[in-house]
Amino acid sequence: MGIVLELEKITKIFPKVIANKDVDLKLEQGEVHALLGENGAGKSTLMNCLYGLYRQDGGKIYVRGEEVTINNSDDAIKLGIGMVHQHFMLVPELTVAENIILGLKSAKEPLLNLAAAEKKIKALSDKYNFGINPKDKVRTLPVGIQQRVEILKVLYREADILILDEATAVLTPQEVDELFKVVKKLTKEGKSVLIITHKLEEVMALSNQVTVLRDGEVAGNVRTVDTNPTELANMMVGREVLFEFEEKEMDLKEVYIETKNLKVVDKKGVTRVNDLSMKIHGGEILGIAGVDGNGQNELAEAITGMIPFQEGSVVIKGVEKTKLDVRDVYEQGVSHIPQDRHHTGLVLPMSIKENLVLTDHYLEPYSNKGVFNKDVVDEHGAEMIEQYYIKAPDAGVPTRELSGGNQQKIILARELCREPDILVAVQPSRGLDIGATEFVRQKLIDQRDRGAAVLLVSTELEEILQVSDRIAVMYEGEFMGVVKNGEASISEIGLMMAGTRRSNIESQGEVE
Ligand SMILES: Nc1ncnc2c1ncn2[C@@H]1O[C@H](COP(=O)(O)OP(=O)(O)OP(=O)(O)O)[C@@H](O)[C@H]1O
Ligand SMILES: [Mg+2]
Repeated sequence: MGIVLELEKITKIFPKVIANKDVDLKLEQGEVHALLGENGAGKSTLMNCLYGLYRQDGGKIYVRGEEVTINNSDDAIKLGIGMVHQHFMLVPELTVAENIILGLKSAKEPLLNLAAAEKKIKALSDKYNFGINPKDKVRTLPVGIQQRVEILKVLYREADILILDEATAVLTPQEVDELFKVVKKLTKEGKSVLIITHKLEEVMALSNQVTVLRDGEVAGNVRTVDTNPTELANMMVGREVLFEFEEKEMDLKEVYIETKNLKVVDKKGVTRVNDLSMKIHGGEILGIAGVDGNGQNELAEAITGMIPFQEGSVVIKGVEKTKLDVRDVYEQGVSHIPQDRHHTGLVLPMSIKENLVLTDHYLEPYSNKGVFNKDVVDEHGAEMIEQYYIKAPDAGVPTRELSGGNQQKIILARELCREPDILVAVQPSRGLDIGATEFVRQKLIDQRDRGAAVLLVSTELEEILQVSDRIAVMYEGEFMGVVKNGEASISEIGLMMAGTRRSNIESQGEVE
């Protein structure tokens, strides 16, 4: 069908980093082109150049055969290029329609145009089976639907070249399927899609062509039919990624954390965690499986003191409480890798080294009698960058200048390096490349082998199965069953995820 977009020798240099070097890429009309690469390889930067958010330092962009200059996103939109970003850019307090027409040049009087916009949005939503009500406030929508709003925003602007930067990272498997259907429909209509993802099976299932970036340069370009996940992993990381973890005999300690009849009701009055009792011993990983939105996040937030609970209690190392305070919980030796890193995990304008001591800065060795110990903080920053493979020029750069996956590694480093007794990890590998994902899973196992109690919340069953000692399946705020890993088949776990209760729930799969 012909080439709709061509990037020729694109180079983008930041003060301390060459993010893209002589990158060539050709996008065929009506096809899906996947862009792969490790965290910090330069994928988002390349797409940001194309979308006019950055200006490339070298190279040329051709759209439909003509060389173009893209100075800002308005230029990109005029050329029919639309982008869904790695981190959502919607305004939660506005409605879907308001978000979609926000910033549009043509909508000079947005209030007057709102009704017309709503009509057009409704029509588009119907066409792609999005089921979106333009009048809904974005804040009230689940993540998967917000994702569709982002896509609608791009379609509303009549883009025929769509860029999806890690669009699937926050979606449930069902939502991913829905998104894939949309992408297939779009390409059938002749639109072309550039997709960034770390999931190789998605690349295999959806794309026609793959370009792999490594350290800002093209490491390979292949037709999808001519490759396989092992080859792609090799191109990206330079080695095979196996996800094989050593299984050690468990050395169980006493119960480190326990909930008794915990009940969490959210602000809207909906019960998210219902009468839930569980125990985790030192030296074991309890993996919580389940479809996103079944109370896993609320459970994690309640036991770390981030949100209040209404009934029941939490026992941390023998001390029972009916009310928790974040700092207090932290000082009890509980670490937390939160679900939403941008709002609760990091302060983006602050440097890497500052974020690394965000929760500990007032304690020894980072502070001494109230005096901040700069040298120790500097040294710690450099050490963590090395140990956690954080890709950054130095520990002094603002966190916002890091790639998405490398920002995530800062939280991991901070929460794990203090060797917590209890670790609550929510989607710890989200947004990480395959090498880093393997690294993080190994780290969880290391924490357990060290004797920590680990609560792992993940919507990726693969992750749960790889590292957990026991698996609890959560559905509508309750455990449908708790089993020893290996005791239940995948299809049994699937049934529990869909709400079927396992008969011997009382046993909780405990080894005691
Ligand atoms: N605004 C910026 N200022 C300085 N350096 C930056 C900026 N944005 C990105 N970089 C650097 O450019 C490199 C490429 O980053 P980019 O965000 O493109 O990676 P990525 O491939 O999208 O990674 P990820 O998979 O983690 O999202 C990184 O080394 C990053 O630190
Ligand atoms: Mg990125």
